[in-house]
Amino acid sequence: MTKTSTTTDFLCSQCGNDFPKWHGKCPACGEWGSLKEFTAPKKKRRVSVPYRKSTPLSEVLYKKDSKQFHSNIREVDRTLGGGILSGSVILLGGSPGIGKSTLALQIASGINSKVLYVSAEENEEQIFLRVERIGTDSDKLVLTNENRLGGIAEQVGLVKPEFIIIDSIQTIYEESLDSLPGSVGQIRECGQQILELCKTRNISSLLIGHVTKEGVIAGPRMLEHMVDTVMYLEGESNYDYRILRVVKNRFGPTHEVGIFEMTSTGLSEVENPSAMFLEDDYSAVPGSTVVPVVEGSRPIFVEVQSLVTNANYGSPQRNVTGFDSRRLNMLLAVLEKRLGFTMGTRDVFINTVGGVRIIEPAADLAVITSIASSHKDIPVQRGTILLGEVGLGGEIRKIPHLEKRLTEATQLGFLEAVVPEASKSSLRKVKGIKISGAASVKDVFEMIF
Ligand code: TYD
Ligand code: MG
Repeated sequence: MTKTSTTTDFLCSQCGNDFPKWHGKCPACGEWGSLKEFTAPKKKRRVSVPYRKSTPLSEVLYKKDSKQFHSNIREVDRTLGGGILSGSVILLGGSPGIGKSTLALQIASGINSKVLYVSAEENEEQIFLRVERIGTDSDKLVLTNENRLGGIAEQVGLVKPEFIIIDSIQTIYEESLDSLPGSVGQIRECGQQILELCKTRNISSLLIGHVTKEGVIAGPRMLEHMVDTVMYLEGESNYDYRILRVVKNRFGPTHEVGIFEMTSTGLSEVENPSAMFLEDDYSAVPGSTVVPVVEGSRPIFVEVQSLVTNANYGSPQRNVTGFDSRRLNMLLAVLEKRLGFTMGTRDVFINTVGGVRIIEPAADLAVITSIASSHKDIPVQRGTILLGEVGLGGEIRKIPHLEKRLTEATQLGFLEAVVPEASKSSLRKVKGIKISGAASVKDVFEMIF
């Protein structure tokens, strides 16, 4: 390319913003050392589309053509708040091998409209093998392994799909940029052009994105801001369960989750997931407690296991799976300062069964009690659930959805619940379970140890 036909910008690898000159710290997002030189063609590359017109609200409200696609996978549709709105763009993130392509193909075959599946990562044979495993015979599904944006746009023009799947956003590229597929510049450009294509043609799309070690979608954060919905497929490689978690949704609820199991014929929905993260013989072993966490709209019971041992070498270990390690440090500080436990010379290991990730502070009481139980070597009575957010003073704070959690607990046969005193007063009676209110962690420990 000649010098006159290109411009040099500096692009932030964190937020995707560009600047005419280099900065040590990105002026937009504040990240240090994230600006990289980026050469883009000077000529406007995009085909110009007419400016959009304004529309009266009444027309928008009664618009007849705002169609919703249904994947006909109940967990997916429910998680997305009913279905996929036409013209919307969804980003599906997840680590390699977790099942993104499998889920995308199942969605594609469930949608009763023409779907273009752009598989830039695999050839047709590899896709065919997957198609055979999940057993779809959809005649509305069209495949291509084109990975150039221009070629994809051409296919969209020819095939006229109502839904496109891009597998993955990191492997497609715009030829006029001289950066590699997967680079920030490419992801930003491809994301923008696909968005424009979808909005102008009223096509919906599902973009698949790989995640980095830190668990975010590789590429600029900007991609997450651009799209309408962001969801992640999560799971542990040693287990078959998968959780589809919606973290952003312009057209429906966020924090909703769908639960699946990876089987030999693709992902299958778990009908009743509430007891999935309890060991069959979850029991009175010291260090084991149970908490119903509310994921989206329903409670899921998770067993927390702790092991506290003497630290023999140097600084004590804090090893945690499924729970936030900063939150754990806070709980350890509360144990040390408010309850007189010595934690500084102890190794602490915490696991949730299945490695399922707990986000809710309502699980604090179950975690802190599980640590104390292992520390004291005294088990918590079987059939007890513990609920409450723990404050820095060792106090137990109110939590939401208490009644829902307790009702589900009775159905699973739990007999006792320790709940925040402050939530208990406003609670209607739940039959079949003994409910004890506690104002502080100290109260709880006096009650159960
Ligand atoms: P895949 O969808 O290719 O993952 P991703 O696109 O996220 O990289 O699926 C990866 C794994 O799932 C692979 O190890 C094989 C397994 N799998 C099944 O167990 N059952 C199936 O029906 C399919 C299609 C895949
Ligand atoms: Mg894949």
